[in-house]
Amino acid sequence: MSDIQEPVAVASAEDGGGLAGLEADELISKFHVFHPDLCDLEKRKLILGKLLRECPVGYSNTYDGYWVITRYADQQHVYKTDEVFSSTIPIVPRLPGTEMLIQIPPGLDGEEHKAYRRVLAGAFTRRRVEDLEPELRRYARALAEEFAATEGPYDFRHEFALKLPAFGFLRIVGLPAEDLDQLVEFNEWILRHQLSDDEAVRERFRTVETPQFVAYIQKQINARRDRATAPDDLLTIMVQATVFDRPISDEELISIMATLIGAGLDTTTAQLGLHMHFFANHQDRWQELIDHPERIPTAIEELLRRNGVVNPGRVVLSDTEVRGQTIRKGELVLTVPPAVAYDEEACDEPEQVDFTREKIRHTTFGGGPHQCIGAGLARFTLEIAYQELLRAVPRFRVAEGTTPRLHVGNLWGIEELELEVR
Ligand code: HEM
Repeated sequence: MSDIQEPVAVASAEDGGGLAGLEADELISKFHVFHPDLCDLEKRKLILGKLLRECPVGYSNTYDGYWVITRYADQQHVYKTDEVFSSTIPIVPRLPGTEMLIQIPPGLDGEEHKAYRRVLAGAFTRRRVEDLEPELRRYARALAEEFAATEGPYDFRHEFALKLPAFGFLRIVGLPAEDLDQLVEFNEWILRHQLSDDEAVRERFRTVETPQFVAYIQKQINARRDRATAPDDLLTIMVQATVFDRPISDEELISIMATLIGAGLDTTTAQLGLHMHFFANHQDRWQELIDHPERIPTAIEELLRRNGVVNPGRVVLSDTEVRGQTIRKGELVLTVPPAVAYDEEACDEPEQVDFTREKIRHTTFGGGPHQCIGAGLARFTLEIAYQELLRAVPRFRVAEGTTPRLHVGNLWGIEELELEVR
């Protein structure tokens, strides 16, 4: 929607200049996750590398100001010290007029958070995820074969990276596959448009998009009230669960569903797109996996380390210190998992992409009590995707005449990726 101003940057020829090349003190002061320089992988490396080395805990003066934390160990400290770093503001910076639908469970602390998390955990068990395998594999195979049969550009982002994770996600959650387009559209509203600078857009989010979403989910909730006919899925688990000795209210269920759609629909998509962009430019590494399929799980972990996409925020409840920097009560903190790709304290030779690396440490799924609940599903989906793609498409490249476009913002990823078989 071209009329909508979004807090997201997509690299384009006009961007130029900006953060890359600034001295560390000016760089940190101007750093924010919407900056278009971060769409360029070379500039991203320069920017995040400089912050890691010279200013690992620094203060950005953009928006209303917040601390930026780039090293793995400090990010883990923030996630795990939840009595000091509260999740009640999980998205930083707080943009003007932000109406957060995403509250349960990422915006809760302590016992309250635990109560809802426990219920959700029941739907993301290993068994439930692995039970998806036959269907997920059949679908992945069909998509991969379609890619293999395509002459000329194949829109990998929309035809594969979006569809496969959505298939598993919708099955686990219990929403009809045919509603995917509608949910993807709503996800855009949650992740981007509700944070727009334009009040008219935010107004539309509140008065048109949100009521439609609420009515849609309400219908799904109502269909699960009767235990005898309710399907076996996450929404049924939640509708029939209790927290603090009472049922979860409809309003809470809607907040949880909005969170799940925002957190689960586009994130694995972002990983698939970024990984395949890497493989398109490094076909020797694709061949390595064809020759050594047993390396696929390590390759996935290594590429997750190299591609943080979510930057969790916190608000500080009492004065504290991180790496010698004092952070005051009430201040905001932004952790930057994409920086861990270059953190030599976390990994030897962090810039090497090594599919036999023994110890892989990253914060791509966060850490501590809010660590991603969908990580198992994401890893499983990626594994099936690569097994099927490696079988069907032995060689490919970025389609001639096209340029992949990365995006940054609240979620980093790839906006456009056209591939072609060779
Ligand atoms: C590769 C894909 C994914 C990435 C990189 C990712 C990343 C993250 C991160 C960094 C967090 C921590 C947020 C924080 O600490 O504030 C998180 C939390 C969460 N993720 Fe994911 N995620 C992915 C896939 C998924 C999927 C597939 C689902 C659901 C189907 C999901 C559902 C959630 C939920 C519900 C939370 C909140 C957990 C809590 O607050 O206890 N994620 N995710």
